[in-house]
Order: sequence, then structure tokens, then C-alpha cells
Amino acid sequence: MPHAKATRTNRPHIVPSHHAIPRLVSDPVTELARMGTDASGRVVRLHLGPFRPYLISHPDHVQQVLKTDWTNFVRAGVFWRPLQRLIGHSILGEGESWASARKILQPLFTARYTASLAEDMADTIAARISELDDYSRAGRPIDLEHQMTSIVNDTVIKVLFGGRISRDTAERLAPEFATCATSIGFRMLLPFAPYSIRVPGDRAFLRSAKKIDEIVYPLIEQARHEKTRSKEVVSALLAARLEKEGEADLRQVRDDLVNIYGAASETTAMSLIWLWQVLHDHPGVRERLQEEVDRVVGDDPVRPSHITSMPYLRMVLQELLRVYPNAWVVPRQTVADTEIGGVPIKAGSQVLISPYTTHRLEEFWPRPLEFDPERWADEKAALSHRYAFVPFGVGPHVCLGQHLFYIEASLVIANVMSRFRPVVANPQQLKPVPGGATLRPKQKLFLQLHPAERTRAA
Ligand code: HEM
Repeated sequence: MPHAKATRTNRPHIVPSHHAIPRLVSDPVTELARMGTDASGRVVRLHLGPFRPYLISHPDHVQQVLKTDWTNFVRAGVFWRPLQRLIGHSILGEGESWASARKILQPLFTARYTASLAEDMADTIAARISELDDYSRAGRPIDLEHQMTSIVNDTVIKVLFGGRISRDTAERLAPEFATCATSIGFRMLLPFAPYSIRVPGDRAFLRSAKKIDEIVYPLIEQARHEKTRSKEVVSALLAARLEKEGEADLRQVRDDLVNIYGAASETTAMSLIWLWQVLHDHPGVRERLQEEVDRVVGDDPVRPSHITSMPYLRMVLQELLRVYPNAWVVPRQTVADTEIGGVPIKAGSQVLISPYTTHRLEEFWPRPLEFDPERWADEKAALSHRYAFVPFGVGPHVCLGQHLFYIEASLVIANVMSRFRPVVANPQQLKPVPGGATLRPKQKLFLQLHPAERTRAA
């Protein structure tokens, strides 16, 4: 498309290096959002030395990049390249391997298929939350990050592998993924360093990637040799690849599983950390949620059918994803010259969609910094623009795990709140920081689990 010559109105809002670098070093998440909101959703260009990405936050621009013009904005470049060695070629990638993985995986994550996994998920989660009784009895607070990560990890692994994987092995997987996510920092800073040269973090990355393979491959082999097909993802995946492609290449199935695990675990676990501090800060919300859990679940074990009768819990989760969208930036690289909001953008540029910023634009969200689940009472009215709420992305790459997230997170919350009266032991103002690809609180949080004051069946 020929470009109009840049005028005052179609120049990006520029943040020069001497402002951008110190601000992003001191507080990347908050400052990046401030740069976007100061520009009221106009395209921002960040000058970070020679690296000059565009920050995109206006819902119209989000729609263009992720949906209408998505083939011109691909997952490539500095933000994706370091991940590639772990995720291989599957749904978190691009092109043909992404398209075929999407076709095969999508049916496994529909609302209906996810619901069919929900009963097992409910059992896993209930068993894990009941183990927290020991902490409650001893009056010892739980380390939220450790416990939420471990519970989500266990649940996701069961969804992927069913009963084939032991608890010990499942617990070995999570830290290996965490190491992979955190050890690529140097590669992101030095995107052009050739892979023939070792940089800090490489050794840890490769060691963890190898350990992940040592766990995952035998599980795939085991599922492949089983006569009966079960509904866990690994079985369904083997069957689907076999049926559609005539063979189930083990490397491909490994890539699929690693992609899903990577997308599903940290995101959900981090939401379940933010939540408890938010409930501490908003006692009215906490009381209303507690009332809903008590009324709907009562003394019964939490079942998936309870979740569908808890509209307030859903509103709280939506507001949580608005204020703390875990995928806080969604990076893309332009294929051909284009323009966004009248700003010319050259092929090969880095474009950062920032849901964290979009969700804070005053034009679309009245009182954007206020945590107010009530705004979701009428979802249509809450969304003044269809692309103003994008915690799961939009368009052809939209998150496959939305239903899984809502069911899993709801089951965890309902279990904790029906069994205990949770109170944050060290309340504080949490600082959001980027952790791997997700948004996480900088500080450690601990939760005291007082027993709920009613009799419950063991
Ligand atoms: C709070 C929880 C979650 C958040 C905030 C989240 C967010 C996102 C976002 C923003 C994308 C789009 C990425 C892009 O356009 O490049 C995405 C993609 C994806 N998510 Fe999630 N996600 C969550 C949970 C899950 C879960 C539980 C699963 C489990 C299946 C999952 C699986 C995926 C997959 C497979 C993709 C890639 C889809 C594609 O490119 O075709 N996510 N997610």
C-alpha cells in the first residue's frame, strides 16, 4: 500500500531513549502502560537504542494487527526466536505448522470438550486443596506462588497425560519449564547473537529442555501403545494426528504438548496469585464472593455444575483479567510495509500489542485503575469496543484455553473458599513485573487458611 507522507497527525508518539530506557528498566510494566495511556491509544514508538518497537494499544489497532491484517503481523523476531528452541513447530508458532496444529488442537479445547474434562479436573483440584488442611491446622501460611503453581501444574498435566504421569514426575516438569522461561533473558537482549555462540542462560536452557523431553517422550510412547483411547489430550492428539495425517510423528506430538503446557500453566497460576491480594484490598468483593461460594457450594464437594451457577465469580475473574492480563504484551513482526492508525510502519518492524495498556485506556474503561467486578454485570454494556478487552488475544491466534482457564481457576477458588477462610498474611501493594512471558507480582505473597466455621464431610 502506498503511504501518505507523514504529517503531524500520523507521526507516532515518540518516547526518546533517555526517557524510555530508565523508565522501562525501573518499572517495565507500569511505565510501558503509562507511555500508551499518555498517548491515549495513539501508536507509540519506543526508542531503545537501535531497537525501536511500536507500542499498540488502541482497540482499532489491536483488531487490525491481530485480526483483519493478521497475516502481515507474524510471530517472529526478537521476542519469539529464543523460545523457538523449546516450543519447536506447533501452535505457538506461525505458518503451516501453526495452521495444522490449530486445526488438530482446536476441537480438544472447545467449551464442550473442556467440560468433559471438568469432572476429573474437579477431583484433582479438590484433592490438592484438601492437602492444605495441614497448613491450616498448624496455623502456617501457604506460599501462594509455590502452591498455586503446583496445583495448576498438576491439573494441566492430568488434562494432558491423565493418570500416566506420577505426581513426582509431574512436579519435576514445572521447574524445568520455569528455568527455560527465565533463562532466555540474555537471548532476548542479544537477539542477533548466533546460536553457535553460548550466552549466559543457554546451558541452563538446554539442560532443562532436555529434561522436559526425557519426561514427555516416554509418556507419548506409553499412550501410543495403549489399546484403549482415553480423552486426555495426549491420546486425543495421537488419534487426531493419526487420522488426519496418517501418522503421528512423535516429535510433532511432543511439540504440541510442550506448547500447550507452556501456554496453560504459568498464565493460570499467576492469575491465582493476583486474586488473593485483590480480594484483600476489596473486602466488599471478597464478602460477596464468599457469600456466593457458601450459598452455591455449601458443605458439598465442589463440582463443575456449581461453577456455572456462580456469576459473580465469573465477573471477578473477568475484572482480574482486565486489570492484570497475564499475557501483558503480545509481540509481532511486520512482513510488509504497512500503516497503523495512519503511522507508516516498515517491513521487519517489531510491534508490541499491550492488553495491559488497552485495558487501562480511559476512553474505553471508566475509572480504569479501579477493580470493579460490577462493570461486568452487563457484559455488552461493559464492552464499549469489541477489542477493548483482549486478555486472550483475538483473531486466528486467539487463546485456545479460555474455557479451561475459567473452569480451572473457578474450581481452585471455590475449593479454597469453601474449605477455608483465606486471609493474606503479608498484604502489600504488589508491583507487576514481567516473568518469562507473563505478568507476575514482584513480591512473595503468603495466604493464611483459617478453617471455615462449619462441619464438612471429610
Ligand atoms: C489466564 C490465562 C490465560 C491467558 C491470559 C492467555 C492468553 C493468551 C493470549 C493473549 C494468546 C494469544 C497469543 C498471540 O496472539 O500470540 C494465547 C494463545 C494461546 N493460548 Fe492462552 N492464555 C491463558 C490460558 C491458557 C490455557 C489454560 C491454555 C490451555 C490450553 C492456553 C492455550 C493457548 C494456546 C494453545 C494459544 C495459541 C493459539 C494460537 O496461536 O493459535 N492458554 N493465550
